[in-house]
Amino acid sequence: MTEPMAAVIKPLERLVVIGLGLIGGSFAKGMREAGLFREVVGVDLDAESCRLAVELGVVDRCESDLAAACVGASVIQLAVPILAMEKLLVSLGRLPLGETVLTDVGSAKGNILRAARRELAQQLPRFVPGHPIAGSEQSGVEAAKGNLFRRHKVILTPHETCEPAAVELVDQLWRALGADVEHMQVEHHDEVLAATSHLPHLLAFGLVDSLAKRSENLEIFRYAAGGFRDFTRIAGSDPLMWHDIFLANREAVLHILDDFRDDLDALRNAVDTQDGHHLLGVFTRARVAREHFSKILARRAYVDAMHNTDLIYLAMPGGKVSGRIRVPGDKSISHRSIMLGSLAEGTTEVEGFLEGEDALATLQAFRDMGVVIEGPHHGRVTIHGVGLHGLQPPPGPLYLGNSGTSMRLLSGLLAAQPFDTTLTGDASLSKRPMNRVAKPLREMGAVIETGPEGRPPLQIKGGQRLTGMDYEMPMASAQVKSCLLLAGLYAAGQTSVTEPAPTRDHTERMLQGFGYPVTVDGNVATVESGHKLSACHIEVPADISSAAFFLVAASIAEGSELVLEHVGINPTRTGVIDILKLMGADIALENQREVGGEPVADLRVRSAKLKGIDIPEDLVPLAIDEFPVLFVAAACAEGRTVLRGAEELRVKESDRIQVMADGLQALGVKAEPTPDGIIIDGGPMGGGEVISHGDHRIAMSFSVASLRASAPIRIHDCANVATSFPNFLGLAAQVGIRVAEEGK
Ligand code: S3P
Repeated sequence: MTEPMAAVIKPLERLVVIGLGLIGGSFAKGMREAGLFREVVGVDLDAESCRLAVELGVVDRCESDLAAACVGASVIQLAVPILAMEKLLVSLGRLPLGETVLTDVGSAKGNILRAARRELAQQLPRFVPGHPIAGSEQSGVEAAKGNLFRRHKVILTPHETCEPAAVELVDQLWRALGADVEHMQVEHHDEVLAATSHLPHLLAFGLVDSLAKRSENLEIFRYAAGGFRDFTRIAGSDPLMWHDIFLANREAVLHILDDFRDDLDALRNAVDTQDGHHLLGVFTRARVAREHFSKILARRAYVDAMHNTDLIYLAMPGGKVSGRIRVPGDKSISHRSIMLGSLAEGTTEVEGFLEGEDALATLQAFRDMGVVIEGPHHGRVTIHGVGLHGLQPPPGPLYLGNSGTSMRLLSGLLAAQPFDTTLTGDASLSKRPMNRVAKPLREMGAVIETGPEGRPPLQIKGGQRLTGMDYEMPMASAQVKSCLLLAGLYAAGQTSVTEPAPTRDHTERMLQGFGYPVTVDGNVATVESGHKLSACHIEVPADISSAAFFLVAASIAEGSELVLEHVGINPTRTGVIDILKLMGADIALENQREVGGEPVADLRVRSAKLKGIDIPEDLVPLAIDEFPVLFVAAACAEGRTVLRGAEELRVKESDRIQVMADGLQALGVKAEPTPDGIIIDGGPMGGGEVISHGDHRIAMSFSVASLRASAPIRIHDCANVATSFPNFLGLAAQVGIRVAEEGK
């Protein structure tokens, strides 16, 4: 980082750092090491700090006269304690500083900027307030480190009259020290810091003092374990500095402290009244939030977002598959288990829940709406249902990641709630069509706004009275059907949905499993409002959509035999088995049984010579998610495979017709996309680069293709495999598919 920056910044004359504590000293030392200034001069009231600063190589020299140090300097860094800042600004305001750029490191910005506005008339446009977030319990110039700010955040809070060149210069100086620089409004900065830094320090100081003064001697601390040590670590920080910070950021701290006091009172009350539900709610939500923070704190999420890392799978050619595996739980059923469990009365236990990002997005959405959900832990989830009318307004927009199922099903449910909601998602979800649910919901009386062209975000207005209706779906979509049935639980009278072809019926089955009456008459499903859901036990079968990758893998790789255990074989989902069998696959259903209203079986698959077929159109909705991998089967088959009537594939997580055609062509397969399908001629397959466009099923399909490729396949943009199949690479390796993250 240092080198390119050094090239951008012309060598500057003099840096003056006023205040040689840990932060000022580290800035000076880092700058000196980076060689961006001809000299680095320190100023500090404490003669010993000055002496040490020179001795430790923190600065080139120290100057005791402020004017002599500052006049003619290129940059002045103000690193004195925050309450001393005002006095310093008064002195600096009197000096002829000309083009000198000023910046500071104070941890509250509002009061410093107010003082600067008063005192720095001429210099104000060249004053760029800043705040490095790199505290430590150490203090003093002797603790200064040139790399203290490396990979730490530095927040700059430029004001409206700041000169852009001055902002740019300060920005680059911090970047030269390896910091991640962000810009923020002053007020926002102070609120954020009050919440994330100042309040925790206040609590840590307060708790240690409170305990220390209550116990006769400090005896009790002998019994303190790791939890106490971790929680109170920051009570070892510099008392004077923190005293200053609380006085400087008074308003923002009071605000967050008052909010926290209310929450603390509620916790006290819960303990007092033995309200375990409240406690569990707070603790489970906090734990999830904490896991989320940890990722950010570990900088993974942050760095990923910054650099948009491309997760590449490298799949080596050849091999065969064998063994017995159980793929993760069904995604559709996992989503619905959370939704219906939350709306039920009583406690629902779920086993085999899919711990993939999509189902977790649904889980988090319900937590955000006040439902207490324990787990998931090894596929077990306990949902403390709140009843059909017990959801609470979420604190902000519900972020649903990559999950179309979450957004479409939730929209039906939320259209009938008394509160407003906003549903958002990632880049892929933000491109997917939502009018298919918004339009019929509006006909029922819902008030929903979409983004341009009917895309997310969805703004759903609460407090509407919905009326049931008979709806003829223009496309075969289980998501649309489910969305309307969920709205129908609240709509006056009956809601019927007619589907043009059978689609997955988990919503209907599971509603019945929760004791809610649903009538299914041919292709029409009907619910009426006024009933309730009662908690139940759900065993989620393994997802046939995930099993499909291995059904194709074992079919195409000569000498393979594999058993996939406990796979859901609901007849609205088994199109992939039917299509593969039509192509000549050897798949046997063993040990068929019914678990919690869903049929399951162990699937034994042996390799077979596949042949190309015309895929019967009535099987399309029954295999809708499995086409990417079926196209791989087609590429390995003898002869031509033709798919028609599958335009829905163009609006999945990616345009699966185009993306698969591009990928297959890149491997030398003849694949011709058509408006509603594809024509694939089986033949030899080479290696090469394919792009999954962030679509989990495309990434996994090309991993399977490697079994028949003649050279390695590099698959780009694979991070979203975690949305539906968290341990795909582990299971693939276990059975013999040689695919792994590149570089691991
Ligand atoms: C799903 C329905 C299907 C499917 C999706 C899950 C569901 O979507 O592709 O992965 O759980 O209801 P459509 O309803 O858009 O076909």
